[in-house]
Amino acid sequence: MNVALFGASGATGQCVASALLSEGIKIKALCRNANAMDDFAGELTVIQGDVNDKKAVSETLCGCDVAICVFGPHLPYTDIFCAEATTVIVEAMHVLGVHRLICQTVAMVGDYPENRSWAMQEMVEVFNHRYPELAADRSEQERMVRGSGLLWTILKPPRLTTGHVNEEIEVGCDVPVGVLSSASRESIAHWLVNELRHPLHIGEALFFLD
Ligand SMILES: NC(=O)c1ccc[n+]([C@@H]2O[C@H](COP(=O)([O-])OP(=O)(O)OC[C@H]3O[C@@H](n4cnc5c(N)ncnc54)[C@H](OP(=O)(O)O)[C@@H]3O)[C@@H](O)[C@H]2O)c1
Repeated sequence: MNVALFGASGATGQCVASALLSEGIKIKALCRNANAMDDFAGELTVIQGDVNDKKAVSETLCGCDVAICVFGPHLPYTDIFCAEATTVIVEAMHVLGVHRLICQTVAMVGDYPENRSWAMQEMVEVFNHRYPELAADRSEQERMVRGSGLLWTILKPPRLTTGHVNEEIEVGCDVPVGVLSSASRESIAHWLVNELRHPLHIGEALFFLD
């Protein structure tokens, strides 16, 4: 299996890269700064470029079976790019015949009140009010994935942590999340490898709880 990894330089991207490589899955990673992948030197193919650059995206996807998107804005959340980047990726996937798309967004994004505690839903309202462009961009990213015509799965973790693998992480469309909920990046990466091997969640938006 060959995976095109977008957002590989980030904290989740690094965990996903480790998990995939440990299972012998080949990776082509698109990064703005190729040096960010130095820890994986010789183990994967790095393409230097931006996620909005059609040529770099196509080069990354070429020869791959799956695209995994784990990019997202850093604080102070002024870069609004996720929906546009995802559109570029989806279009290139159609051209190149890559059918499987796994895209991570955030539990706080979109209209999922049934998954959220009252306090979490209040936090979402505050977030949407404070970062309207970002909230709209991430919702649009999800809309784009849902309408992509691809074999998609959306991952919607709550606050991310780092440092442990929980092989029993709770995953599902109905998993409830609250303001204190979290999921470790390693647990999600571990789950992701299993989902790639045995796809059970095509066409689903999944919440995670460690
Ligand atoms: N942090 C949380 O608690 C949390 C909770 C739930 C969901 N999420 C979501 O989960 C995903 C991974 O989160 P994370 O915290 O592990 O990631 P992260 O460490 O913040 O990494 C973000 C990734 O996105 C890329 N990126 C940021 N701004 C960019 C831009 N303007 N153009 C192109 N690429 C850009 C970064 O590339 P560079 O290295 O080049 O900057 C990096 O690869 C994201 O979608 C995030 O929104 C995060």
